[in-house]
Amino acid sequence: MRRKLVAGNWKMNGDLATNARLLDRLAGAWTRAERRSLAVCVPAPYLAQAQAALQDSAVAWGAQDVSEHRSGAYTGDVSAGMLVEFGCRYAIVGHSERRQGHGETDARVAAKARAALTAGLTPIACVGETLDERERGDTEAIVRRQLAALIAVLGGDTGRIVVAYEPVWAIGTGRTAEPADAQAVHTKLRAQLLAAGAGAVSILYGGSVKAANAAALLAMPDIDGALVGGASLDADEFLAIGRA
Ligand code: 13P
Repeated sequence: MRRKLVAGNWKMNGDLATNARLLDRLAGAWTRAERRSLAVCVPAPYLAQAQAALQDSAVAWGAQDVSEHRSGAYTGDVSAGMLVEFGCRYAIVGHSERRQGHGETDARVAAKARAALTAGLTPIACVGETLDERERGDTEAIVRRQLAALIAVLGGDTGRIVVAYEPVWAIGTGRTAEPADAQAVHTKLRAQLLAAGAGAVSILYGGSVKAANAAALLAMPDIDGALVGGASLDADEFLAIGRA
């Protein structure tokens, strides 16, 4: 069954005091009776803090990236096994800020998703086109290629991931995809997943999601939740998106 999930991606934001206030608000306000799952993906140094604050709550937590390697000489990287030790349920892989800023290829993103699954984490695998690609009419080809790379590596385990469609031009810009445009891309992704025997994968939308636009996006039949950046740093906004 497609799980409804609203996940926050804090990116490189936060400090111990601010996090404590935000995590406590979420832990206190979000109950197991909610119809959706709520999660926060925090910077790696704050995983222990998230674990301590959220372990008795209905809010899950995760990381923003994971190494494709199990262990070894990979300076600065964090393995899936380490994330599991801190109680993570999720690891974002293939965020556009890592594809662009860290040169992550489709193949590497797929290897990261595989490493996450092997350790028992749920990868939230991001796909999405740049503004140039959209204007050239290449949106469908780009996201199809990105998802195909995941399916090629994950095979029968594709059904165990979460996909996030994040048009790069909508990230942090205040420019959200129109619900119908996002739905159109989600429909294509759904068809590709179905063909791979993974039609029940949840597909999140990400890119300038706010409390004010969440309900319209989440009302679309193939939008199963949201991956929220900036608005996830504000407890009221984030909770409102979770309940939209
Ligand atoms: P914003 O919600 O800040 O646009 O970020 C979206 C995003 O990149 C989530 O992963």
